[in-house]
Amino acid sequence: MSNIVIISGSPSQPSRSSAISTFLENKTLEEGLKVSKISVRDLPAEDLLFANFNSPVIKEKLTLIQQANAVIIVSPVYKASFPGALKAFLDLIPEKGFENKAVLPVVTGGTIAHLLSLEYAFKPVFSVLGSQEILNGVYFQDNQISYKEDQLSFIDHEIKQRLENSLKGLLERFQTKQLIN
Ligand SMILES: Cc1cc2nc3c(=O)[nH]c(=O)nc-3n(C[C@H](O)[C@H](O)[C@H](O)COP(=O)(O)O)c2cc1C
Repeated sequence: MSNIVIISGSPSQPSRSSAISTFLENKTLEEGLKVSKISVRDLPAEDLLFANFNSPVIKEKLTLIQQANAVIIVSPVYKASFPGALKAFLDLIPEKGFENKAVLPVVTGGTIAHLLSLEYAFKPVFSVLGSQEILNGVYFQDNQISYKEDQLSFIDHEIKQRLENSLKGLLERFQTKQLIN
């Protein structure tokens, strides 16, 4: 059973946000937790476009989410909101699919102007999906990171710290819950 699911929402390749999701995946593994990654880019395009709830691939990914205790969504901002491919996948998740799961959103954008997309675009969808634990989230401006030849580096060390602290906060919540239950 996987404990953490990371959903990578970029349809692009190479992808900055996907590189951040790999960074988070490695950090989570270092903590000895199980982690699964779902990249919307790798999902069958027709299943997303035509909302194919019967797709075996989609069903397999939804099972991973169902079994997870926490979800990290890492996505670029597209047109002040999320990429259509990510929304198409989120649309396939059952109505209360994030119930009892903490959700950490991590968003990258070309400009700081769309920082609030976290609040008005991303978080309402996680709320509709039933999460009652949506963490503050981290927003990266492209100039705070460098991504060349598959190498991610953080130009702004403060934001790296913020990302690591957010992940730590998420994992601690989840580990505390396990101790209680
Ligand atoms: C189609 C498209 C739309 C975008 N729209 C926005 C936007 O509205 N606001 C913004 O800050 N950045 C926007 N960007 C920039 C991306 O969010 C940014 O470069 C992001 O880091 C790309 O992530 P990725 O490499 O993981 O796809 C857009 C990029 C593309 C390709």
